[in-house]
Amino acid sequence: MHQSSLEYLRCVNCISKLELEPYKESNEVDEGFLFCTNCRMRYPIISKIPIMWPNFSSYLSNRARLGGYLMLQSKNPGLKSFVKKSLKEINKNTTDVTKVEERWVQTYKNSLKSKFYSHMRERIRKLPRCDAVLEHGCSIGYIAKELAKRNDLAFGIDQSFYAISEAKKNNSRNLDFFVANSLAPPFGKRKFGLIVAQNKLDPKLLRSEIERCGFKLINDTKKPRFIPWKLNINSRLSLHYKVDLVIARN
Ligand SMILES: C[S@@+](CC[C@H](N)C(=O)[O-])C[C@H]1O[C@@H](n2cnc3c(N)ncnc32)[C@H](O)[C@@H]1O
Ligand SMILES: [Zn+2]
Repeated sequence: MHQSSLEYLRCVNCISKLELEPYKESNEVDEGFLFCTNCRMRYPIISKIPIMWPNFSSYLSNRARLGGYLMLQSKNPGLKSFVKKSLKEINKNTTDVTKVEERWVQTYKNSLKSKFYSHMRERIRKLPRCDAVLEHGCSIGYIAKELAKRNDLAFGIDQSFYAISEAKKNNSRNLDFFVANSLAPPFGKRKFGLIVAQNKLDPKLLRSEIERCGFKLINDTKKPRFIPWKLNINSRLSLHYKVDLVIARN
């Protein structure tokens, strides 16, 4: 996480400002906690990635395998025991999505040359420049990286830790990524100049949430309009996927 991102982040529980407790820093905050002095919620930062979920145990509840990995990645004893304690609180009966989320990362990487990404590049090129943009469900961050080239500041959020780890590779100083839920984004009442989302969320729910936060949907994305995307699962298997694109302005 870039130190400079702190001023944009808010508690997903009570939208208060957050304090940073860094344990290890390089050119970014590698490890530590973001904590809310109002509701006392703590958000861990592991391998440079803040996990901004309303409750860390609930994030791990269907990602126990990921929990084990995060425990190994955490070098600071306090952070390690926080992950361990959160893992103990989860209900192990739920299906673990860790492997599925890991596999999707490879599928998106295999599909970087798809027509869909060139379609998105073209669309982004035509949008007016903004001070801050947000991509919901950014996955491995390809589109967020395009947005960062044409805007002053860009953020990407996704629920998948593995996708965000991939997105964080070679990211620029005006771009940052967070594990977060699009239905409880970690930016409080902040108005972004532009929001981009192509998501698996219910199309109506996502649109109403974006409008509730005071954004205007761009005309041709007001209604679900599914854009074809050929995703390469491996060299012999492709998935013909339909993407619901939402672009909203302040
Ligand atoms: C179609 S993919 C987006 C692909 C990505 N924009 C790209 O360009 O490669 C949808 C993404 O939304 C994420 N997602 C689904 N529901 C979410 C939620 N409630 N909050 C955050 N991310 C979510 C998934 O993890 C997935 O990476
Ligand atoms: Zn709070």
